[in-house]
Amino acid sequence: PVFTSSFDADLLIVGGGIAGLSAALHAHRRGLRVLLVSKTALEGGSTFWAQGGAAAPTGPDDHAAHLHDTLDAGRGLCHEDVVAGFVQEAAASLDALDTLGVPFSRHVTLEGGHGRPRVRHAYGDETGRAISETLARAVRQSGMQVLEHTFARRLLQSASGRVVGAELETQGRVTQALAGAVLLATGGFGRVYPVTTAPPEGTGDGLALAYRAGAELRDLEFVQFHPTAFVPATPPGTVVLVSEAVRGEGAHLLNGDGERFMARHDAALELAPRDVVARAVAAERARTGTVTLDLRHLGADHVRTRFPGIAARLTALGVDPATTPVPVQPAVHYTMGGVTTDAWGRTTLPGLYAAGEVASSGLHGANRLASNSLTEGLVFGARAVQAAAQDLHREPPARATPLQTLPEGEWLTAQARLADAAGLVRHGDALQAALDGWPDLPDAPDSVDRAALERGNLALLGRLLLLGALARQESRGAHWRADHPHLAAPRHAVQVAGTLRHEAL
Ligand code: SIN
Repeated sequence: PVFTSSFDADLLIVGGGIAGLSAALHAHRRGLRVLLVSKTALEGGSTFWAQGGAAAPTGPDDHAAHLHDTLDAGRGLCHEDVVAGFVQEAAASLDALDTLGVPFSRHVTLEGGHGRPRVRHAYGDETGRAISETLARAVRQSGMQVLEHTFARRLLQSASGRVVGAELETQGRVTQALAGAVLLATGGFGRVYPVTTAPPEGTGDGLALAYRAGAELRDLEFVQFHPTAFVPATPPGTVVLVSEAVRGEGAHLLNGDGERFMARHDAALELAPRDVVARAVAAERARTGTVTLDLRHLGADHVRTRFPGIAARLTALGVDPATTPVPVQPAVHYTMGGVTTDAWGRTTLPGLYAAGEVASSGLHGANRLASNSLTEGLVFGARAVQAAAQDLHREPPARATPLQTLPEGEWLTAQARLADAAGLVRHGDALQAALDGWPDLPDAPDSVDRAALERGNLALLGRLLLLGALARQESRGAHWRADHPHLAAPRHAVQVAGTLRHEAL
């Protein structure tokens, strides 16, 4: 393409969720020239929709317990040093948000997998909106360079392979941004599945860009299903998250026979780790036809004041949770895998950093502990800025990663196959069949069709997810293989390094 303009910065940050916004503020305060690029308005992405809250130890005496709960949920695949650093820095990072203006309540909530209440929330159940709006305001007031509604299509690399910038597209216009370092904070790839709480922009762009540049990705087979989503028949595509905090406040799960069934699945009942509750809900739905979440005993006033957003959304769809048990089902919610990083956000490629859901830092292992992810964005966004600032280095761009697209019809067929084969319960034969039928991705060097490029990213990640799920011949955390129902000896995750195909600039 002919570039009509270009941008230059010390640090290019791609992504406007909690990791990207908070990292941008850190970098700006350190005196770095920041360019922040967001595919939506800054008040977008998964952060905006987060309900339950942000977890942090309630005091120094809670560090060991938060560490333990995180490792326990991660089923042997967390990196303990990473979790220890996270727990150490979590509370201070939330206090800083509080100082910036996020009105965290004094009440801390219990969520699944936590041995005690340690989840902070704001605006009742609209914690993400409070955080997103506060950080976006601070970024706008800082005067840093911000490009909203701008899509990072591909990464630019020097002759030595260092990541030196990205090619951007805004309203069909293509530009180049060059930088001393690039931080990916683009979120996860939940949209690879048809039924997900991930927003439409959750198409895993950062993972796909990093992979095509040659970075290592890992653990893509670990996809977290949230146990309690309300999925009405109409309007089609509607998925309403019913926060785990609702169970934290005492709501009960009932099966089609009216039985409070969790006692048969886990001693922690409704507050067992998410993978356990999700599989139990799916099994009871299959056996008894329906599962509902019953809040009635909490009292109508409490339901409406503690969960105003959820109550309003459900009531608008015809189910008032204060008076009616809410039909629920598991829905894809969070992707644990990502671009491999060390504890400081360094990927395997020089010049490229990753923080938040796009990254696989070793924090989550095989199953993320509820409400660790907002805090993760803060802690690892700040750490990545620190690492990048130490290593800023300029090299001229020599090549760009490929652009790949997929027509919508082909993608919808592939997506349905993936959802069947790589759902809550998987089997090697179905995974292999889905891989055998997976579409080829043509290179499309001239495309400015953002939706088609997003489908290209999703289709790439879908294939890698299937490969990871097939290779992991065991059941661990969020990855459950009916043909390998046991834990194998803990071992390192299946890792995939990028294809290293490039176009000369
Ligand atoms: C929720 O509110 O249930 C979501 C919390 C999370 O995903 O950590």
